[in-house]
Amino acid sequence: MKGVVLAGGLGSRLYPLTKVTNKHLLPVYNEPMIYYPIKTLVNAGINEILVVTGGNNAGDFLRLLENGKDFGLKHINYTYQQGEGGIAAALSLAEFFADRDKIVVILGDNIIEGNIKNAVDKFRRQQEGARILLKEVTDPERFGVPVFEKNKIIRVEEKPANPASHYAVIGIYMYDYRVFEFIRSLQPSQRGELEITDVNNFYIQEKKMEWDVLEGWWSDAGTFESLQYSSEMVARTGANKI
Ligand code: G1P
Repeated sequence: MKGVVLAGGLGSRLYPLTKVTNKHLLPVYNEPMIYYPIKTLVNAGINEILVVTGGNNAGDFLRLLENGKDFGLKHINYTYQQGEGGIAAALSLAEFFADRDKIVVILGDNIIEGNIKNAVDKFRRQQEGARILLKEVTDPERFGVPVFEKNKIIRVEEKPANPASHYAVIGIYMYDYRVFEFIRSLQPSQRGELEITDVNNFYIQEKKMEWDVLEGWWSDAGTFESLQYSSEMVARTGANKI
């Protein structure tokens, strides 16, 4: 299994913090934001990792991460996204790296208290399809939200005005090789992006989507409030506990 960290985008919700740097290089308590998702992958036993970035500050990722010795890695792979296009567009750049292997994708601003070992182990045993992680939240309208029928997810709605459940689909996704085929058939959403939620809905329609609920706190760090919350939680409890 291989890992992909998506660390591009404009970070416009954090402007002007992101005027001269990439969001994923900003500090979350005592480390740069991108350290946390990389540790999440490494703690799950994934050591072949691709970082997808873009924009004017892409070179800074190389200077910061080098070949990953801070994470016990011997090598990190990098690729560059020209322009913007959404999470699924960034992920499409990982096709060559994935080389038909299963992948765990993590958004570079998603930080967790614990680890995803159990879910990743289950996905290793899962013959095909995809697996997502859910977390109960008080503000589901900010996220992808699963719609349940009994304990089956029948679809995911992106940032719904009237959320059908109290769960968020967090930014850690497990996919088989077909993800790239699905991305090729996507159309841009109303916000002009190729949505990862649409990718997840492909798997759901094919009845090939499994899910787990994440234990411990989870935060994205893409807004001022959530960036501050992430720093506070890391300071208070630590992150990426094994
Ligand atoms: C993205 C996804 C959303 C998911 C969230 C998790 O939202 O589109 O489905 O719940 O990440 O962090 P965005 O960061 O683009 O608002």
